[in-house]
Amino acid sequence: MSDSIGKLLQSAVSAITDSTDLKELENLRVAYLGKKGQVTALMQQMKGLIAEERPKFGQQVNDIKVEIAATLERQKTLLAEAGLAARIEAERIDVSLPGVGVDVGALHPVTRTIERITALFGQLGFEVAEGPEIESDFYNFEALNIPAHHPARAMHDTFYFGDGTLLRTHTSSVQIRHMQRVGAPCRVISPGRVYRCDSDQTHTPMFHQVEGLYIDEAVSFSDLMGHLETFLKLFFDQDDVRIRFRPSYFPFTEPSAEVDISIGGGDWLEVLGSGMVHPNVLRAVNVDPETHRGYAFGLGVERLAMLRYGVDDLRVFFDNDVRFLRQFG
Ligand code: DAH
Repeated sequence: MSDSIGKLLQSAVSAITDSTDLKELENLRVAYLGKKGQVTALMQQMKGLIAEERPKFGQQVNDIKVEIAATLERQKTLLAEAGLAARIEAERIDVSLPGVGVDVGALHPVTRTIERITALFGQLGFEVAEGPEIESDFYNFEALNIPAHHPARAMHDTFYFGDGTLLRTHTSSVQIRHMQRVGAPCRVISPGRVYRCDSDQTHTPMFHQVEGLYIDEAVSFSDLMGHLETFLKLFFDQDDVRIRFRPSYFPFTEPSAEVDISIGGGDWLEVLGSGMVHPNVLRAVNVDPETHRGYAFGLGVERLAMLRYGVDDLRVFFDNDVRFLRQFG
């Protein structure tokens, strides 16, 4: 092989094997084997040779052309493999690393308390009914034996819309709706939001109540006392729960009683209002007070939640501070 051909081969092979990426490699291919490349240029020199030298020269140029092409091909494969290996390394996932973690939400303590109350009354045979939060005067007051100008209206701090509707001040309105729908007998509890224009440490403008209603032919005050006592003892899941019925007044019940509770020898706390459904209420929904009677009660959900979870400020239930809410996970 002539010196110049040998040198060209050497420099081509070392340039190719030194190349580090596919673009550089392509440039080298063009520089040696391209139309204006060095090997192609050698071929053109053949014209200037005498006839006897041409075949040998042509053969040599062809040999290095083949060799350079093979070297290019090998280097291309090598670079591709190295590229793949680098990518695999870069994208490697360490399956032994700790995970990012999934935050599991928790039910709000008010929701949990409502679920607990409905489950316990469910065991006593009560179904659940709900009613609208925007109510008419009829369902919130009139049908509950609270006519216009009745002094009890003043106690309710009602939000009025000015068109005869209002934000219900208690869930007692659902008693009326339920009796209109199913008549008597019936046994129902109604959880939901209620609204009053009032705000301090023990009052929020929105809070939750659960209303209870049991109508049948011979429901008595002792049923009311027995059921509420059973419920409260189960709710607090504690032997040392004392319950006290205190005479009271509600327009929709007669007689009426408020129920106080003392847990573990602690102070008496009022948790609900109750009584025997007033005959006027039964008449308003076409239930005959001569054949049917029953009891009703209304309890404050946040009140019960505060007692059960040992919370002393009502407002924390509505601040939505996750540090507080997480404790109920
Ligand atoms: N509705 C009353 C209130 O919001 C609570 C209540 C008292 C409901 C006595 C009743 C009941 O059904 O019989 O304060």
